[in-house]
Parts: sequence; structure tokens; C-alpha cells
Amino acid sequence: MIPKKIEEAFNRQIKHELESAYLYLSMVAYFDEAGFPGMARWMRAQVQEELTHAMRFFKHILERGGEVKLQPLSVLGENGIHRRRLLKRLTSTRSLSPAQFTNW
Ligand SMILES: [Fe+2]
Repeated sequence: MIPKKIEEAFNRQIKHELESAYLYLSMVAYFDEAGFPGMARWMRAQVQEELTHAMRFFKHILERGGEVKLQPLSVLGENGIHRRRLLKRLTSTRSLSPAQFTNW
């Protein structure tokens, strides 16, 4: 059996991993819409990675006899994170132009 405190922490971590996947997914949509297939492909890989992380916690809770409790995701809207702002941050802090993303 898994201690309740650990189960709760792992359930919170599943939420965080899924929120990351959801945020990356929004960036996939943005890059696809903006005509940057290379960056969209890279973001898709990040989505898959975060889903893999979430499923590791999911599986571990079940294997230890715990209960998976999925929680509402809050990555978009509520906390103000927006994909266009992230893109702007990415391109401004690293001195990259959107064109440099096209052939990744
Ligand atoms: Fe992760």
C-alpha cells in the first residue's frame, strides 16, 4: 500500500505533467498554424515526453494499490500562461527569429 501523503503528491505530479503536455500541445497548434513544422514537431515530442512522465506516476500509484485521482488542469487561461507569450519569450531571450525554428 502507498502512504496517503505520497499518493497525494504523486497525483499532484500527474496533474503537473499533464499541464505541461497541454501547454506544449498549445504550442504545437501555434507553430503548425504559423507555418513552423520543425518547431511543431519538436513540441510534439515534448508532449509525448510529458505524457510518459504522467503515466509513470499513474502506473506506480496503481501498482502500489493506491487510487489515481485526476484533477482539473489549469495551465491555459487561469494562470495567464499563453502560447504566444511563450513564443515571444523564446525568441526574445535567445535572440532567435521565428525563421530559425523552421528546420529543426
Ligand atoms: Fe515532466
